[in-house]
Amino acid sequence: MSYKTVLITGGAGFIGSHVVRLFVKKYPRTKIINYDSLTYAGNLNNLKDIQDKKNYFFERGDITDYKRVKDVFIKYNIDAVIHLAAESHVDRSIEDPFAFAKTNVLGTLTLLQVAKDFWGCSLSNKDIISKNHRFYHISTDEVYGSLKLDKSLFVEGSKYDPHSPYSASKASSDHFVRAFHDTFGLPVVVTNCSNNYGPYQFPEKLIPLVIYNIENKKPLPIYGKGLNVRDWLFVEDHAKAIDLVFYKGKISHTYNIGGFNEWRNIDLVKLIIKIVDKKLGRKKGESNKLITYVADRAGHDMRYAIDSTKIRKELGWKPEFTFEEGIEKTIDWYLANKEWVKDVTSGEYKKYYKKMYSNRK
Ligand code: NAD
Ligand code: DAU
Repeated sequence: MSYKTVLITGGAGFIGSHVVRLFVKKYPRTKIINYDSLTYAGNLNNLKDIQDKKNYFFERGDITDYKRVKDVFIKYNIDAVIHLAAESHVDRSIEDPFAFAKTNVLGTLTLLQVAKDFWGCSLSNKDIISKNHRFYHISTDEVYGSLKLDKSLFVEGSKYDPHSPYSASKASSDHFVRAFHDTFGLPVVVTNCSNNYGPYQFPEKLIPLVIYNIENKKPLPIYGKGLNVRDWLFVEDHAKAIDLVFYKGKISHTYNIGGFNEWRNIDLVKLIIKIVDKKLGRKKGESNKLITYVADRAGHDMRYAIDSTKIRKELGWKPEFTFEEGIEKTIDWYLANKEWVKDVTSGEYKKYYKKMYSNRK
């Protein structure tokens, strides 16, 4: 089964850009429409290498704008949706919870409503609709809350227990997605993934922030004691999992995605210091002095760890990159792409966007 037109929301962001690139290259006969409002986190430079491909289309728009989303559905006759657009940074959600409720909850609800209306979904025709359409919602392991420092793992049936405004908004959006399946027969599938890392991640997130700050001899802020644990997955492995679930995942099912790759923050930061110092020809451990313990994040979840047995067994997915390969690739990319980091942090890319799109019109 392949779809003629796929709408990918948030395709100019970190994970979205990897998904758009994969789909544009792998499915040349499928029109890929990247729908993104280009917030500070969205950057069309992330997609420079595929922007001229015939099957790639960009539409700037907000997911909370029903009319604009509907117009895009009509313009391209959208068959299926992969929904990644979101406010994604926990610290920002503590500063401005409303922005997260708006985009992550109302935005998701708007997309669901348009898809339901446009495809004409109802419980009575759900089998026919699900043959031709699909709404794939990308979510996070943070909805499950926090694990103890033991061997427990999040499974698909783990209870929802969000602690930050970000995870609360994602949890809410997950519930709406499932409710649209149960109430209106919308053919949905959901994945909950662990922490991603890799090229094009906005340098407010731990890994790119630390790489940038080591290079520039700036303090490396460690929240609390640095003992919190995250399960890290290379972004290209997430994109491949998304491809699999999109085409092979069972309607109404949830799949957890993760790398069985847990790191305490402090150990991860020390590993990055070791690699970056070596690459920059600095003395071993020279940048350890940049480590700066700062006040803990409010509501800071202690540990996330995903049990990805279901997607591995049912769909045959497994990560292709070891952590050593992924982190090396990521560090090399950030050291080689200083201009990208400068642009996204200075807002330069917004000028690029305007110029590029006025040239294309
Ligand atoms: P990101 O912040 O890098 O990108 C988000 C994208 O969404 C940006 O391009 C932004 O412009 C766009 N966007 C934001 N608000 C919008 C709106 N109202 N309308 C249209 N577009 C809008 O995020 P990311 O890290 O790539 O995460 C993508 C998705 O994956 C999110 O749904 C996130 O919850 C989920 N997720 C992320 C991770 C991770 O580690 N980064 C892990 C699991 C799940
Ligand atoms: O688990 C999936 C989630 O991973 C995604 O849903 C989110 O969108 C994504 O941002 C990420 O959330 P985290 O809060 O885990 O990622 P972040 O990179 O912000 O932080 C990783 C850990 O490092 C976390 O325990 C907080 C800590 N940290 C973070 C920053 C930015 C620090 O100690 N210092 C920092 O400066």
